Amino acid sequence: AGVGQAMRYGVLDGGKRARPLLVLAAAQAVSGEAEAALRAACAVELIHAYSLIHDDMPCMDDDVLRRGKPTVHVKFGEAQAMLAGDAMQSLAFEVLTPQGGEVGPALQARLCALLARSAGCAGMAGGQAIDLASVGLALDEATLRDMHRRKTGALLHASVQMGAACGQTDERAWNALSDYGWAVGLAFQVVDDILDVTQASETLGKTAGKDADNNKPTYVSVLGLDAARRYAGELRQQAHEALGRSGLTQAGWLAVMADKVVDRES
Ligand code: IPE
Ligand code: IPE
Ligand code: MG
Ligand code: MG
Ligand code: MG
Repeated sequence: AGVGQAMRYGVLDGGKRARPLLVLAAAQAVSGEAEAALRAACAVELIHAYSLIHDDMPCMDDDVLRRGKPTVHVKFGEAQAMLAGDAMQSLAFEVLTPQGGEVGPALQARLCALLARSAGCAGMAGGQAIDLASVGLALDEATLRDMHRRKTGALLHASVQMGAACGQTDERAWNALSDYGWAVGLAFQVVDDILDVTQASETLGKTAGKDADNNKPTYVSVLGLDAARRYAGELRQQAHEALGRSGLTQAGWLAVMADKVVDRES
């Protein structure tokens, strides 16, 4: 009972596992160390699932449905939801720092640094703060892009970087993967904004139409649905172009992921 149960409920079933798949696809592209990559994949999903638990709380988006189930605070109460998120954030870094020599100390530190920077004030948590401060505002496109890159793009970008850090990359490949990660990361939230207006709650496993209900500025509210779709397509193109200039010959799964992120229906 207690916080462990709420943690398992929040992370263990449902969810597309998009971030772990990006870690593994990037690791594959650089022939990265499997143990480190699997740990990075779990760690980033823990951070993501924690961000969803907090995102759904009444003080944030106030949602009752997530991954087809009642949200964690509905099921376990607000205090347990807050603590489950806190503990999942810590667990992510525990997973990255095994004590038995499974992952070398330099790589452990590198993975922790990448994840911490993407989840913190310059990334997810800071982006979520901008999101809450933007309710009811007509954001310009540059501000909207910055918010989306932080709240969602940063963690997807870090997923790619963490996978890449598990192997060897030259500067050209590292920079190209970084460009790929930002393009896919922003596309992910543009598509999330689109799906909020085009899909049903049953398909999404979360409440449809919530952005308009909560008066959130989104790519749909700022650009309109057609332009938002075109922009997602442009970002997909940018992602593929970045892979093309990476010089990597095993980037096939990353290419698949760029398409999946834009073509998905939930
Ligand atoms: C939803 O993320 C929240 C965003 C950052 C857009 P996902 O669409 O990846 O949610 P799950 O993990 O599949 O439930
Ligand atoms: C969430 O954005 C971004 C996070 C960091 C969790 P949303 O608020 O649009 O995510 P959903 O639509 O509730 O999944
Ligand atoms: Mg939100
Ligand atoms: Mg939300
Ligand atoms: Mg959304």
